[in-house]
Amino acid sequence: MILKELYELTENMLAAAGVEDHRFDTDCLFEDILDADKVTLLLHGDREVPEPDADKLMSAAEKRCSGIPLQYILGKWEFYGRTFFVGDGVLIPRPDTEILVERVIEHFTNAGIYSPEICDLCSGSGCIAVTLKKELPKAAVHAVELSSDAMPYLIKNIRHNEADVKIIKGDVTDGRLIENFLDPDDVGEYRKIDAVVSNPPYLTDKEMTELSREVKREPEIALRGGADGLRFYRVISALWKEILKDGGLIAFETGYEQGEAVRDILQKSGYRHIAIFKDHAGNDRVVTGINSVG
Ligand SMILES: C[S@@+](CC[C@H](N)C(=O)[O-])C[C@H]1O[C@@H](n2cnc3c(N)ncnc32)[C@H](O)[C@@H]1O
Repeated sequence: MILKELYELTENMLAAAGVEDHRFDTDCLFEDILDADKVTLLLHGDREVPEPDADKLMSAAEKRCSGIPLQYILGKWEFYGRTFFVGDGVLIPRPDTEILVERVIEHFTNAGIYSPEICDLCSGSGCIAVTLKKELPKAAVHAVELSSDAMPYLIKNIRHNEADVKIIKGDVTDGRLIENFLDPDDVGEYRKIDAVVSNPPYLTDKEMTELSREVKREPEIALRGGADGLRFYRVISALWKEILKDGGLIAFETGYEQGEAVRDILQKSGYRHIAIFKDHAGNDRVVTGINSVG
């Protein structure tokens, strides 16, 4: 089959299977599998595609038609201009999360703090931790993640991006985890850090029943945030306050309807200067606060 016929066939297959962005997904599959971009299609559309390549493309298209996310088929996705490997068991980095990263970078740049110590809780692919380390090269960054399925991706993405990020495997809601920050020079005291950053699971029980077939393929542990979706915000803002400096930053990604509820949680936990930032669609997406001790 020639290139342009294969393109048409693929796009039609995806459209018929209800893939929303069928043209975009077809473009991505062609670029990734056949190394054929729009210009190649235009200039060499009549080129014969070798059978093994056409088979490979068709097999990927069939996976996409069955609801497997495009990013899992490609095995990688871009976040903040860098490549992150993804697949079964790890959440796909979302563009909205770049807003959280931007706020944190801006906070430390404006404050003139060039070597902050930062904890990224619920790290998943490591897109937040790795990006912060690359953009704030003198920062000490820790990535905390519980899932054994996500862990290989976290390790691979840290290595691939040559980011010196320290991994802590554990449950961010378990108080024992902050013992990692006990001060070796001051018995019983914690070494205080500059920022706690997190994009935790935040979907409500109701939202978990309404997922698209693509999101359903992503790990439940990365999505489910308790009955009202706010469990992680409550626990993290109380528990991790213990190791946050007075004046340290807490920064959360939130669901689009959770901004005010998370503001309330931060206020009750003793944070000040709480701010809500919107995503490109104009929805609440990031909530930040400053730790205030006493
Ligand atoms: C919404 S995803 C965010 C992943 C990544 N930070 C990102 O922004 O793409 C939440 C992550 O939290 C992890 N997780 C869920 N419960 C956890 C817990 N109790 N302790 C640590 N990590 C947890 C999940 O495995 C998942 O990787």
